[in-house]
Amino acid sequence: MRGHMESSRLTLGVISWCVFACAAETNTLRLGEDGLLHLNNGNFNKALSEYKQLLVHFSTPMSADLHKVSEAFEEAAAQLQGSDVTFARVDAVKEQDLAQDLNATHPPFIRLYLSGDKHSPVPCPIPTTSSSIATWLKRRTGSPADLITDDIQSDELLVVGFFKALDEAYAQVFYEAAVELPDLTFALTQKHDAISKYGLGDDVVLVLKKSRLMQAYRMRPETNKEELIVFITVFQMDPVTEYTGQTVSQILTSPVRNHALLFVRKSSPDFSVIYAAFDRAAAAFRLKVLFVLVNVDEPRNGRLLEYFRVRDFEAPLIRIVNLTDHVTYHLPSQTLDEETIIKFCQDYLDGNAKPKMQSEPVPEGWDTKPVKQLVGSTLENVAFHPNNTAFVLFYLPYSPESRAVFPLWEELAEAFEDQENVVIARIDASANDINMSMHRQYPSFCLFPALYAERVVVYTGKLRVKDLVKFVHKEMEKAKKDRVMEDEDRRKYRDALREDEARKEEL
Ligand SMILES: *[C@@H]1O[C@H](CO)[C@@H](O)[C@H](O)[C@H]1NC(C)=O
Ligand SMILES: *[C@@H]1O[C@H](CO)[C@@H](O)[C@H](O)[C@H]1NC(C)=O
Ligand SMILES: *[C@@H]1O[C@H](CO)[C@@H](O)[C@H](O)[C@H]1NC(C)=O
Ligand SMILES: *[C@@H]1O[C@H](CO)[C@@H](O)[C@H](O)[C@H]1NC(C)=O
Repeated sequence: MRGHMESSRLTLGVISWCVFACAAETNTLRLGEDGLLHLNNGNFNKALSEYKQLLVHFSTPMSADLHKVSEAFEEAAAQLQGSDVTFARVDAVKEQDLAQDLNATHPPFIRLYLSGDKHSPVPCPIPTTSSSIATWLKRRTGSPADLITDDIQSDELLVVGFFKALDEAYAQVFYEAAVELPDLTFALTQKHDAISKYGLGDDVVLVLKKSRLMQAYRMRPETNKEELIVFITVFQMDPVTEYTGQTVSQILTSPVRNHALLFVRKSSPDFSVIYAAFDRAAAAFRLKVLFVLVNVDEPRNGRLLEYFRVRDFEAPLIRIVNLTDHVTYHLPSQTLDEETIIKFCQDYLDGNAKPKMQSEPVPEGWDTKPVKQLVGSTLENVAFHPNNTAFVLFYLPYSPESRAVFPLWEELAEAFEDQENVVIARIDASANDINMSMHRQYPSFCLFPALYAERVVVYTGKLRVKDLVKFVHKEMEKAKKDRVMEDEDRRKYRDALREDEARKEEL
């Protein structure tokens, strides 16, 4: 009895020691292996009161993009060791309550807390490298005078402000934009000589690339920081940006929320012509639509193609996506010339473009005419029907080659009118997402034999009713043999299942 009491006292002792020790553990401010202060519910306030400038990264589960941010943050912490800024990290998943209390469950994920104020941290722009963070910290405590230079020759991109007077509001707005865009080099000059070659007046902001003028912006009394940032971020990019690992974050963080994507094979012979048209159209929509090139030859773009449900053999094609509501639009044309692209973009902006749908609605009376009109949602049921042979024309309504085949398909349907187990059908491939692997151009002719197996046979022969009928009969004969085997297999399987059940009942 006594022994028991002693041991429970001992247990109590251990527990209270642990409570004390663990509390002490969470309260202390220690640097982790990554050189950052690790903050949690227990020590956040302490850090806040101890450090005048606390730069906190709220880390969330890692995507490749966020991993880069994380790395840049750690590098900046190492480079700025000993400065007035203390770098800290909160694991926003583990420390959910803390993140919620701080309203930090959403971007921006890097925030600078000043003088112990937990309510109004300064958001840090998403860094691409450690120097983004260092430049931002430096600029935010600096002034327009720091940017003065008369040397505006640069190989890189350069944003130049030319103002009559530096104490003007214009210079201030310009500087505020520079703080928010730490990845770009900014310069202020008052020497008219420096910019006279561009033939512009006073109070302008120039975006220069290798000293070539990309675009000029004339400041107006009502110009604010946001407007200037949009101008600079748009015109620092070329009219068309190729989608790559390097450009993806620039594309996705662009203030322009309408994107036109050209899916094209760079290796294809017509690439340069299509690209030139796309590029010229892009110039007409700066600030309204961001033009993006997606090279279909590049395997790393597979995920993007999947997202937009573009199959590689469909290239070249153009889609517009509204990044606000993620609705996509498909350019309904086979010709991708400048005029067509401009019209498509303008129609979209005017609200006249039709969104691309996974399936059109099932048309009324779709199966009453000789040629059945399929849509995305009815295709599989009809094509993969085990008792019917389906011969389906995949067409593009705007393509003359496709339309030319319609009468032939009517004739073919009439030829099989009396055979209930043969279905002649067609589907508009531009308006319906077709979830089958077909590596064909349109129009394309696919026969789906009467089998349980989901088999597709593509017809490549002459476009004559006689040949098509022959093809269907030949494929039906072939399928009949396979079907006998399928039925046999299925019967065996059923029997085996039955035997199995019978045995279980015996047991
Ligand atoms: C978070 O947001 C709520 C509601 O807007 C506000 O009451 C609270 O003070 C905020 N917390 C911080 C730390 O700013
Ligand atoms: C994009 O989507 C938003 C939200 O639905 C809508 O308000 C806006 O008008 C759309 N833009 C265009 C150009 O259709
Ligand atoms: C196919 O035919 C068989 C035999 O007549 C029938 O049992 C089966 O239900 C049919 N399958 C379908 C999907 O109609
Ligand atoms: C395509 O079909 C597969 C399997 O039936 C399905 O998992 C996938 O979600 C479909 N994709 C689309 C875009 O409908």
